[in-house]
Amino acid sequence: MRGVQDDTGEVQLRRARSDDADAVARMLDEGLADKFRPAFGRRSLDAVRAFVRADIRAQPERRIVAEAGGGIRGTASLTISGDPPPALLGPVRREVGLTVATRAFLVLSALGVRRMAPGDAFIEELAVATDARRQGIGRRLVERCEHDARRAGCRRLCLNVTSDNASARALYESCGLSVSDRESWFLRRMLFGSPASLLMRKRLA
Ligand SMILES: CC(C)(COP(=O)(O)OP(=O)(O)OC[C@H]1O[C@@H](n2cnc3c(N)ncnc32)[C@H](O)[C@@H]1OP(=O)(O)O)[C@@H](O)C(=O)NCCC(=O)NCCS
Repeated sequence: MRGVQDDTGEVQLRRARSDDADAVARMLDEGLADKFRPAFGRRSLDAVRAFVRADIRAQPERRIVAEAGGGIRGTASLTISGDPPPALLGPVRREVGLTVATRAFLVLSALGVRRMAPGDAFIEELAVATDARRQGIGRRLVERCEHDARRAGCRRLCLNVTSDNASARALYESCGLSVSDRESWFLRRMLFGSPASLLMRKRLA
């Protein structure tokens, strides 16, 4: 099992449970709107809720939440090379229909391919509630992911970030990740309005 309970300070980090799915989905739909809205349109929240529910049910160890005052204030997901790929198309299709789901997965594929090598751990779907930002929650989530990746014996911590996401880039750089690759596609710029996708990495061992 990956991860340990971290209960220092007022914000507690723990693994996501099924009853967190709605709060996590709302946070991702809002925080990562530039990714999910172009893909799912006005069904974005429904689609995100469907895949978050399915993901927590199938692989609860992947997703971490930050809880404070009885509410979810942040979330992140960590995939380790060798983990089974999440089977998300089915739940999303049942929620929003085949046409929207198929179009969305095609659109999302323009974000770039998550290239994982053996020994890699990939942080995805990191978001902090708007009114809880700049309080150190994002940093604790990244540090928790790094901790879990080290415990799993991973050699690199990796993630993708859009080049114009200044706050996220500053967070990752302050956690020791650095840019190792850059992709800039016309289709990506058209769909998501972002200049490029950056691959950031940190060597763990
Ligand atoms: C990016 C995000 C997760 C940061 O979460 P956060 O809890 O506000 O970050 P922290 O408070 O832990 O900040 C840690 C460090 O990151 C940097 N940072 C975070 N937000 C910043 C901002 N808006 N401007 C400049 N630097 C910032 C700072 O170095 C900060 O340290 P400091 O506060 O001591 O100066 C949050 O802004 C968010 O949810 N954004 C929307 C979703 C998103 O973009 N996710 C990343 C997808 S790749």
